[in-house]
Amino acid sequence: MIKKVLKKLIPKTTLSKYSKFRIDMRNAKIINDGYALDSEKFKSYSASFDLDSKEKLQSYLIKEYHAVEKGLALPAPRIGFGVARIRKLIVNLNFYIDQYGIDEVATDTIAVLEEYKTFDTENNPNENPIIKEVNSIVTKFNDLATSNLAGGGGTKVINKSEIEKAVDFDFEFFFKSRHSIRDFSEVPVDIAEVEAAVDLAKFTPSVCNRQAWKAYIVKPENTALKEKLLSNQNGNKGFGERISSLIVVTGKLSHFFAYERNQVFIDGGMFAMSIVLALHSKGLGTCCLNLSYTAERNKIFDGLMDFDADTVPIMYIAVGNLKDSFRVANSNRKEKQEILRLY
Ligand SMILES: Cc1cc2nc3c(=O)[nH]c(=O)nc-3n(C[C@H](O)[C@H](O)[C@H](O)COP(=O)(O)O)c2cc1C
Repeated sequence: MIKKVLKKLIPKTTLSKYSKFRIDMRNAKIINDGYALDSEKFKSYSASFDLDSKEKLQSYLIKEYHAVEKGLALPAPRIGFGVARIRKLIVNLNFYIDQYGIDEVATDTIAVLEEYKTFDTENNPNENPIIKEVNSIVTKFNDLATSNLAGGGGTKVINKSEIEKAVDFDFEFFFKSRHSIRDFSEVPVDIAEVEAAVDLAKFTPSVCNRQAWKAYIVKPENTALKEKLLSNQNGNKGFGERISSLIVVTGKLSHFFAYERNQVFIDGGMFAMSIVLALHSKGLGTCCLNLSYTAERNKIFDGLMDFDADTVPIMYIAVGNLKDSFRVANSNRKEKQEILRLY
């Protein structure tokens, strides 16, 4: 009643200004709470302060050995490069092996150090002080290694002809034939195909090759979980029940350092795109579903599955088989001039 009277008394322009003010305040709160949550999570779970978990230490090792393998892949690697960095890497590798034993990350790091040593032996006329330390960690590794893990770290030679063979297909046709699909066939997808697509997507580039992502694939028959996940997402109305498999793409903060606050979303987004393209290459339909949440809903998301504590949502990917014929939104694209500036 009072509201009605006031509405009549107060001029319309004042009312609409007040209403805009309220909306602005609400949005400011959403932004502030969102950044506060992100900041809190980043401080708690990233590798910014301590390498106090296996995953954080692994990330550090990968980041650092990758700096060495990158150095070795340059057109003219600098003789004796990276001594201080390699010294620190060896200290941490030593600790890692003591703590967690020999695994793929340790093996890859050793492979890189061995290649560094070979390069140094072949090219450095002077004595490199780090080689003694490399020898000692390699000896320790060899003493402990029980099985012959093939270290994938280091460099390899690629022939241009291999690339030419790989790109000898109509990529434009393939790329432009992908659409977001919201009208799937009722035939459930073969989950092995979805798994294979995610496995392929791991070849996505990532910062220092840290691969800070994880995909949770929900099988077609797990309708309860699918429904739970979809009911916490806003953009699947009208087609959610037709989604056969749902992929929850997430990023993992343990792999990032203080200056990398947004890297998890960049790498996670690229991983998601690769999954979409890999599924497309298998003739499966997909639709990305946003997981852009307010802080409040983000916290609800965190409790939806047994996610690792350092998890941040990237997106869902809805997957389904294709019908013989179906309609998609045009989703027209901007003109080239709008998105590209040539210098
Ligand atoms: C991160 C992301 C989130 C998206 N979220 C939704 C969504 O919630 N619901 C939906 O129907 N489509 C969603 N889409 C699909 C976009 O609408 C679609 O990609 C865009 O219109 C381009 O169309 P195309 O994918 O057919 O080329 C999303 C796409 C991306 C990349």
